[in-house]
Amino acid sequence: MIEISYTPAKTATKFIRSNCMVRGLMGPVGSGKSSACCWELFRRACSQEAGKDGVRRSRWLIIRNTYAELKHTTLKTFQDWFPPHLFGGNFTATPPMVQTMRFDDVEVEFVFLALDHEADVRKLKSFECTGAWVNEASEVSWQVVRTLIERCGRYPSKRDGGATWRGIIMDTNPPHDRHWWFKKFEEERPKGWEIFKQPSGLSKEAENLENLPHDYYQQICAASAGDTDAVDVMVHGNYGALKQGQPVFGTLWDERLHVAPVKALILDLHKPVIIGLDFGLTPAAVFLQQAANGQWRVFHEMVPDGIMGAEQFAPVLLTAMKEHFPKEQNFILWGDPAGGQRNQADARTAFDVFKGYGLRVRPAPTQNLSDRLSSVRNVLARRFDNAAGLVLNADCICLRQALRGGYHYATVYENGSPRPANQPAKDEHSHISDALQYALCGGGEWQRLKSGQQRIKAVLQKEPLGWDI
Ligand SMILES: Nc1ncnc2c1ncn2[C@@H]1O[C@H](COP(=O)(O)OP(=O)(O)OP(=O)(O)O)[C@@H](O)[C@H]1O
Ligand SMILES: [Mg+2]
Repeated sequence: MIEISYTPAKTATKFIRSNCMVRGLMGPVGSGKSSACCWELFRRACSQEAGKDGVRRSRWLIIRNTYAELKHTTLKTFQDWFPPHLFGGNFTATPPMVQTMRFDDVEVEFVFLALDHEADVRKLKSFECTGAWVNEASEVSWQVVRTLIERCGRYPSKRDGGATWRGIIMDTNPPHDRHWWFKKFEEERPKGWEIFKQPSGLSKEAENLENLPHDYYQQICAASAGDTDAVDVMVHGNYGALKQGQPVFGTLWDERLHVAPVKALILDLHKPVIIGLDFGLTPAAVFLQQAANGQWRVFHEMVPDGIMGAEQFAPVLLTAMKEHFPKEQNFILWGDPAGGQRNQADARTAFDVFKGYGLRVRPAPTQNLSDRLSSVRNVLARRFDNAAGLVLNADCICLRQALRGGYHYATVYENGSPRPANQPAKDEHSHISDALQYALCGGGEWQRLKSGQQRIKAVLQKEPLGWDI
């Protein structure tokens, strides 16, 4: 007989003992967070009430941001504790990876999903599970966590007795203090949510030291060469200050010039409203119009709070078009040219799906990143007397945050030193930014860029601005 024993440290014990539906475990690196989560899932699987046939059935999702990390880190930790061959089940190594266990009266499935795998994310939306573990949750978007909350407690079905405990456990190194994790656990503190914070790796109470190399945290401090922010997060387990890569539009963005008071922008019914669309599972849309003087005016934005395929997004967009614009308004829709690729599940493209709702979406004329960014830069830099080439309604909060710096270059590490990548980071700011790029490129800015005509004609500068500055 083989015995696997696990004794959690103090904070992990409290985390495991809690019955809260959404629980977060946050702390320094190497403090035993992932191990605690593996064991908590296993423990919950063993304490699931048996169904009518006497079998304790449950199904758990294990989520990580990328497939590489899922396979080499999360799965590895899980199988270190629970080697597949010891628990009477199988392991399927092709994505989505699944480990089953069948021992005594327990029958359990652990499904490993990576968020950079389109098929995996699609699965997430309709998955029926008992609960989930989000590993390194700060790398995962709020939309995913929200969707997960809806999926928990769906297995076993009520008919078969229902889930004895349902919920989500998450672990992470501390994110920055503007992250959704901070907002939820520290500010909003929804009912049924609880956070468990481990002490500093250098404190008297430090946890899991006995399972780490000698002087583990001292060595991290020494290697971090005075980067006190990194030490604060990785060793002390404190929230970090928001530090992200270089803003894509830098000083081209000027809040005073580029933001118009709410309701100040005047819609021209004789001109079409251009809608820029980013598809994908966290879609976004911007609604803008080019005024007679050439100025781009952004009236509205849409960033759904949750994962949504084209099938759900199209009707929501249609409703927004009706709600926010007059009946007689004309629209031209420009979308991500990749929206023409077929969805593996039903062989339809996002364009087909929108067409089914009477919405004709044209593929934006380019996907070239440099052209798309230049198109936005040109309109941001453009001036008509004292007004800017692009203004947005102050209500467009997501686009505003993105343009003022949230949309930033990703960071790559070379020999441990950070440098900006030449691609913007893919996060909550990039989708709305992509939507704007498609709208502007489709709306004529790409052609203008290609023809080298980057300045508005002087004759147009006398046009009214559309609102009082
Ligand atoms: N209670 C325990 N008993 C024995 N070993 C443990 C225990 N908890 C953790 N470990 C071991 O300590 C090491 C670090 O644990 P784990 O990977 O769970 O920490 P972590 O906080 O998730 O680390 P990271 O910040 O790198 O993700 C692993 O080798 C793990 O097997
Ligand atoms: Mg871990």
